[in-house]
Amino acid sequence: MPEKKIILSGMRPTGKLHLGHWAGALENWVALQNDGGYANYHLVADYHAITTNLDSSHIYEYTIDMLLDWLAAGIDPEHSPIFRQSQIKEHAELNLIFSMLITTARLERNPTLKEQVRDLNLGPISYGYLGYPVLQAADILLYKGEVVPVGEDQLSHIEITREIARDFNRQYGGVFPEPVAKLTRFARLPGLDGKKMSKSLDNAILLSEAPDDVRRKMKKAVTDPQKIRKGDPGRPDICLVFTYHQKFNQAEEAEVRQGCESGSLGCVDCKIRAAEKINEFLDPFRGRRVRYQEKPEEVKQILEKGETTAREVAKKTMSEVHKAMKMG
Ligand code: TRP
Ligand code: SF4
Repeated sequence: MPEKKIILSGMRPTGKLHLGHWAGALENWVALQNDGGYANYHLVADYHAITTNLDSSHIYEYTIDMLLDWLAAGIDPEHSPIFRQSQIKEHAELNLIFSMLITTARLERNPTLKEQVRDLNLGPISYGYLGYPVLQAADILLYKGEVVPVGEDQLSHIEITREIARDFNRQYGGVFPEPVAKLTRFARLPGLDGKKMSKSLDNAILLSEAPDDVRRKMKKAVTDPQKIRKGDPGRPDICLVFTYHQKFNQAEEAEVRQGCESGSLGCVDCKIRAAEKINEFLDPFRGRRVRYQEKPEEVKQILEKGETTAREVAKKTMSEVHKAMKMG
């Protein structure tokens, strides 16, 4: 049997996930897992969470909320270890070594960092935050990840991971693969106001949303401002509701487009139809979530088991690293 390719996927624990997380990354995680040709590692980047917010008191709670969403979405812990970065000491160790292999100038040029500093209005940043992509490189390379399913905002970080892998291999000998990023087709799903979907903008539909809340939220979605009443022709390509049809109601996409453009479909009905499709899509998530919510101990055990597996792999890689460096 050919060896399975290694996938390393990770998210910061930000609490409950929304449809944007699904479209941006999680969908790919599940698809790659179900493909059967890959070995998947799922990382909770809890140290990364404190790079932009030192308050760590909610991280555990957010981790559990996020894990429930992963499991509800179909991540199978029997096949794919799920673990926290903070519980595997080797992440910190490899981060330290990698931090010698990259210049501060290179890290200061990182466009994702610049964007975040601007968007989040961050003042002077910490040494740890500047090194965010270095820790991420350690996350990926500790497990010799070859494929990294991420949103497009992470491409610059994967590029840095590749550079670090190359530089390490050149300096000390070939230990690491050069991982590639894998983007989803719908890298960005708009929120209900047309901006990027985000919990802090209050424009998100959560993966754990109850059916009535999906309907209520969809009612408020912004549509083509030129289409005021049924009968007015609309422009589906500038309407976020149409994007939801494209994503969650492909079978009726052409019909919805035609109805919108001709005016025979009104926005109220169009939104109701989208809400129903989103609910149909989320139904299997709801079923799986209930199973895990009834057994909170099981979620803890999933983490413990995943961390035991991850630790073994991490230790093995670190001994290869030390050997390559002639330090062990
Ligand atoms: N930086 C990623 C994000 O914000 C999270 C992350 C940390 C990650 N380590 C990773 C993603 C390793 C993929 C692989 O979404
Ligand atoms: Fe948007 Fe649908 Fe209204 Fe067209 S009919 S503008 S796609 S909500």
